[in-house]
Amino acid sequence: MSKHQAITKKVTTLRLKEMKAQSERIAMLTAYDYTMARLVDASGVDMILVGDSAANVMAGHSTTLPITLDQMIYHASSVVRGVQRAFVVVDMPFGSYQISRETALASAIRIMKESGADAVKIEGGSAVYDAIQGIIEAGIPVVGHLGLTPQSVHQLGGFGLQAKGEAEAERLLDEAKRLDSLGCCALVLEKIPARLAERVARSVSTPVIGIGAGAEVDGQVLVLQDMLGMDDSFSPKFLRRFGRVGEAISQAVEAYVEAVKTSEFPNASEAY
Ligand code: KIV
Repeated sequence: MSKHQAITKKVTTLRLKEMKAQSERIAMLTAYDYTMARLVDASGVDMILVGDSAANVMAGHSTTLPITLDQMIYHASSVVRGVQRAFVVVDMPFGSYQISRETALASAIRIMKESGADAVKIEGGSAVYDAIQGIIEAGIPVVGHLGLTPQSVHQLGGFGLQAKGEAEAERLLDEAKRLDSLGCCALVLEKIPARLAERVARSVSTPVIGIGAGAEVDGQVLVLQDMLGMDDSFSPKFLRRFGRVGEAISQAVEAYVEAVKTSEFPNASEAY
């Protein structure tokens, strides 16, 4: 049993604030299904992100653009059923919040009602202030997301490091402060220089969770399948593989195939 299994007190927005105030680092990972969410939750993660990266790791798309609101709700409700303690955040998919403040609110309400999650996450800065304000005013916690915002990959021209120049960095800092003052319950910073991420984390009261944003932020997030070592083809500098689960799966499947082919499985004790 994991040492975290006994701790079932649910992580809330208040607890996240307290963790930042007490300089306690926040550990966040993605999950997209019940089985993985149960394991991740029982292993002590504080926040689970049902990321639209499901489009990549679960469905094999090259961008996050194709995933739909219905598909996100399906993943999110599966995850929520497996979680007791972690704070569950669901990505608002591309197209579900850009059209109008009303569409954004309607999409966020559907996510909260139909999945049972704790918060939604929205990519972007000034373009989404209005949408974020409407959702927060409806009582729904919102996590912001600045820096590399993968839903804008075609506009950004790729998945490279963001906010490298001074003007871009100042703009990101201003946007982070505004998201903080709007009341975002956390902020994800993706693939930006570590010194800028540190400046942001010191300038806002909301917890800042980094991915490719260095160590001087309030927490870290990684895509579960990436950190478990399930895909050797994706190796950005920021990614540390904490396991070799891909190899373990291949070995188990190969052993199963061999046992079936040789009629070694099932044996007498495995038959009725
Ligand atoms: O969709 C996702 O997994 C994300 C993380 C990379 C932050 O947004």
